[in-house]
Amino acid sequence: MVNFNNSKIGILLLSHGSRLPQGEEVIKSYVEMFQTEYPGIIIDYAFMELKQPNIPETINKLTTENDIEKLIVVPVFIAHGLHTKRDIPKILGIQEEDFDIDNTNHHHHDHKSEDEDQSIDFDGEIIFTDPLGADPRIYEIIKDRVFNNF
Ligand code: NI
Repeated sequence: MVNFNNSKIGILLLSHGSRLPQGEEVIKSYVEMFQTEYPGIIIDYAFMELKQPNIPETINKLTTENDIEKLIVVPVFIAHGLHTKRDIPKILGIQEEDFDIDNTNHHHHDHKSEDEDQSIDFDGEIIFTDPLGADPRIYEIIKDRVFNNF
């Protein structure tokens, strides 16, 4: 069991963001599941775009209100895409050098955050994890959706 007391580790769950409310309900539920299972854990959520709170806002709030040395950022996305490969690393200030995918014309939508100029005021370590990926645990959920309708 991980000890979260005085761990100085913060967790940020990222969701894409939508003008509709369902996305926030889901990501908020995951935050609440963490808080229920690990009381005292430092965790919050933010959206890549289209909805508040955005990433810098939430990180600045988390790191101002808590003594955090390391921030673990989990994109609750199924797979990598432009947001996880380009946009989010840029926002986090951890963009890999030479990562330039701008000329691929694969922008699935062009709704840049209106808060692009907001910067993160955190000089600790930021870990940006992989998205969920292909995982047997998610496969089980997909099967539920299918077979519940057979
Ligand atoms: Ni997008």
